[in-house]
Amino acid sequence: MDKTAIIGTSLSDATRYLNENNVVAIPTETVYGLAGNALNRDAVVRIFEVKARPAFDPLIVHTHAVSEFHKYADIDSRTESWMSKLSPGPITYILPKKEIIPDLVTSGHTSVGLRVPRHELTLSLLRSLEFPLAAPSANPFGYVSPTQASHVADQLGSKIPYILDGGPCDVGIESTIIDLTQKQPIVLRLGGYELGELEDLTGQKLDNIRLSSSTPHAPGMLQSHYAPNVKLFRKEVSALLEEYPGAKVGALRYASPDAHIPEERQLILTSAGNSAEAAKNLFRYLRKLDEMDLEIVSVEFAPDEGLGKAINDRLTRAVTR
Ligand code: TXA
Ligand code: MG
Repeated sequence: MDKTAIIGTSLSDATRYLNENNVVAIPTETVYGLAGNALNRDAVVRIFEVKARPAFDPLIVHTHAVSEFHKYADIDSRTESWMSKLSPGPITYILPKKEIIPDLVTSGHTSVGLRVPRHELTLSLLRSLEFPLAAPSANPFGYVSPTQASHVADQLGSKIPYILDGGPCDVGIESTIIDLTQKQPIVLRLGGYELGELEDLTGQKLDNIRLSSSTPHAPGMLQSHYAPNVKLFRKEVSALLEEYPGAKVGALRYASPDAHIPEERQLILTSAGNSAEAAKNLFRYLRKLDEMDLEIVSVEFAPDEGLGKAINDRLTRAVTR
């Protein structure tokens, strides 16, 4: 049996492992990341190995401040001041990369994803290091992202030495990704920042942000992703009961239970109908469904507005086609 990861809050332990080019799980406001020295090939290879991630899927690089970005990417001062209004926060910018970032991190792309997470413990960690941290979400490739330390321990605990415990993630879904390498900003992934919120915070109308329709830009947008093991269907409970007579049917509901099955077989994302609360519960509940001894699950989508759009994006990738 492999040794089991230590879950703790020691910045000095985390720093020591990272300085040895080992990988450590770190908390962020979105999801937990699997972090390593972004400037060191061995550390980056280790991230891909632990996550069983295909080499074509690039990693996001995390820093403690937007003012660090110029070391790793080409960026003008106007863009920098715009980004300072949004970061730290649940957003990642795709920018033209500088040579210091290994090609391995960006899967050979000439751009790099940069992000400042809004989590005090991780910001302190980043400030204490002499390098930025490459970190994908700390889940095995294709499974649901972790939103608390125990989720990481359950799946990667035998492969990493340390999990820095920063409590449950505040936002609960991954960062919004914006590609700034084209003439117009392109949203590659919906996430923790609603598009309307981005406009409010920057004080500019971002009509030219358009949702990317072509797939290969952000490989994390692969169709089957975020999937728990139990089969999920975007179908009414009543329809599943008819289609699968005798099956143990459960439900992931948005705000209220379904009357056709017992409440113990259902999880309600937000009884208050609050999309931020729903986002925060989403991945934890997807994991929980795997422990509920169900055969099939009916999934109710969120109202398709604001954060609900990001929630529905993840649910679309989690359901069975
Ligand atoms: O909230 C988050 O962003 C979390 C936390 C840990 O920061 N990280 C995260 O990483 O979600 P990951 O690896 O699970 O998803 C990152 C996505 C991938 O889909 C990847 O393809 C995309 O970012 N990405 C990274 N660098 C890119 C680049 N240069 N061009 C296009 N897409 C990029
Ligand atoms: Mg991920």
